[in-house]
Amino acid sequence: MNIGFIGTGKITTSVIQGLFRSNIKLKQILISERNKKNSLALSKKFKKVKVVKDNQEIILRSSWVFIAVVPTVAKKILKELTFKKNQTVVSFVSTLNMTYLKKTLRPATSIVKAAPLPTIASKLGPIILFPKNKKVTNFFNHLGMAIIANNEKENNHLWTMTSTMATYFEYCHTLENWLVKRKVTSAKAKDLIASLMFGLSHSMLLSKSKTKELVTDYQTKKGINEELLKRLKQEKTFSSIDRNLTKIFDRIKKAND
Ligand SMILES: NC(=O)c1ccc[n+]([C@@H]2O[C@H](COP(=O)([O-])OP(=O)(O)OC[C@H]3O[C@@H](n4cnc5c(N)ncnc54)[C@H](OP(=O)(O)O)[C@@H]3O)[C@@H](O)[C@H]2O)c1
Repeated sequence: MNIGFIGTGKITTSVIQGLFRSNIKLKQILISERNKKNSLALSKKFKKVKVVKDNQEIILRSSWVFIAVVPTVAKKILKELTFKKNQTVVSFVSTLNMTYLKKTLRPATSIVKAAPLPTIASKLGPIILFPKNKKVTNFFNHLGMAIIANNEKENNHLWTMTSTMATYFEYCHTLENWLVKRKVTSAKAKDLIASLMFGLSHSMLLSKSKTKELVTDYQTKKGINEELLKRLKQEKTFSSIDRNLTKIFDRIKKAND
């Protein structure tokens, strides 16, 4: 089948890189010319990727269409485009709710909201999907881990977690920098931290234990893990994260209303 992307930005580039690392069989991938630099690079690298100037033509020639433009552009261009009845439309735009999508993408009825993350380029990471759609879930399970929201409110709760990526890297940077200030080379510090985080995430994915149990498992009585955790709790580090996640959720919810 042919699939098409309206908007060739960061996330489209990552999804296409993941697709070519996967065993998903596609005839052609049609992408919009904008962004010119990205579309040229993708079409040069992958023979099956074709640049199409007109968004409407992408829709006409694709069985599935991915909407990958920023919210303001989406609101402007979607109402001028006509979708096909039997087409699957996947929207990456966090702020367009299902009521809006159903109304604007008519007569298409197979509509899914999806939040892929840049890690999809390496076929890793979650892809949050709503509502449940077997074919779309199967597609994204080849590119990472599909996580299905039960309803729009839960979808907004799950999307809240996508706000944590920069904070995660700032945490990693803090650890690295602590080492660098003590004359460890930045290459060695980066390897150590990346490997530590990768190992812990891998253990968490494989573990049958609840995460709270891992918190206990990874401390020894009077050990250094117990001490650091206690110190950070005393400084209310984790309750601050909890409180501020609610602020992010409120922002996502408001944008979806
Ligand atoms: N990046 C992420 O991690 C992520 C994750 C989940 C969801 N999303 C959502 O996915 C959407 C895209 O995100 P992004 O990070 O890929 O943004 P982006 O890098 O800004 O890409 C959007 C692209 O749309 C192009 N564009 C502008 N007007 C257009 C038009 N009329 N027709 C076709 N294309 C047009 C832009 O081209 P020009 O550069 O020429 O203006 C730009 O390259 C957003 O709604 C975002 O919230 C992103």
